[in-house]
Amino acid sequence: MESHLLRLLLQNRSDFISRAQLQRELSIHEQALDSLLQMLISWEYRMEFHPTLGIRLLELPLSLHLDEVFAQLPPQFSWRIFHLKETSSTMDFLKREGIQGAPHGSIVIANQQTAGRGRLGRSWTSSPELGLYLSILLRPDFGVESYSRLTILTAVATLQTIEYLTSLHLQIKWPNDLMIGKRKLAGILTEVHRDHFGKPFAIVGLGLNLLHQTSDFPSELQSKASSLLMESGKSIRRTDLLVHWIQFYQKALLMPFDEISDLWKSRCLNLGELIQVHTEQGPLAGTALDLESNGSLILRTDSGKIHSILSGIVEI
Ligand code: BTN
Repeated sequence: MESHLLRLLLQNRSDFISRAQLQRELSIHEQALDSLLQMLISWEYRMEFHPTLGIRLLELPLSLHLDEVFAQLPPQFSWRIFHLKETSSTMDFLKREGIQGAPHGSIVIANQQTAGRGRLGRSWTSSPELGLYLSILLRPDFGVESYSRLTILTAVATLQTIEYLTSLHLQIKWPNDLMIGKRKLAGILTEVHRDHFGKPFAIVGLGLNLLHQTSDFPSELQSKASSLLMESGKSIRRTDLLVHWIQFYQKALLMPFDEISDLWKSRCLNLGELIQVHTEQGPLAGTALDLESNGSLILRTDSGKIHSILSGIVEI
């Protein structure tokens, strides 16, 4: 109901909407409308109340409310979204849900994580409300050997979302870092699990720095990390990010991988470069040549040997 009310208020943002119209559209009495409005006020939606014209939405809160997310998405949107105040890691939460059969497109977003993790066992600092910490569960119709495509797709959809909401120009560092210059804005982690029937599914985690100032990062990251606020001067709301991310993500999932791959390559900063990759099997140095159709990186070492690398970390 809050979601429906918010949809009506958002659709009429430039104008007042009368109480009578709201009651009619929501099929509720005056008292019920008042309690819904009180609820929105307590969530820090600022409204103007006019004695004859009705109600107008003035300001939206920085905090995340799923009711607003659903209000901004098309009514037929059917993915499940969990919003947690705190969790160890959204990856673990969704893994448990996935094992029990949670459907494709289930998303979990947390205000903070107490044990957020990055690739190769690194930790991901997840201070309350400063960043976007989310995971999405995917049950793709291609085999696990191509799940790296999901990392590539997530990088592209996230880059498109950020560029849509800000005027920033981002680049991608293989396989999953979104960079602005030499600083990292976001990281992506893809994990594969199996449910009770032995069927594989993927969980893709996204950590995006939103409202951080330099001093909010651990000292060893202060020269290497940045946030949307630091780069654009704007406090982007997690609600807006999530709404647009979901829409870009759904479009990307429908695109042929060739197209995603081309978009990705056009923004990759280390294709054609000499790179040093830390893989689970150890370090590997060589020239990053191309992306394979399963999403892995083709690397040629000095000796001319060609490697196909599914996952790793590139130092620059
Ligand atoms: C990396 O760059 O190493 C990947 C970082 C991924 C961090 C996100 S935050 C949401 C999700 N939950 C986690 O514990 N990790 C991912």
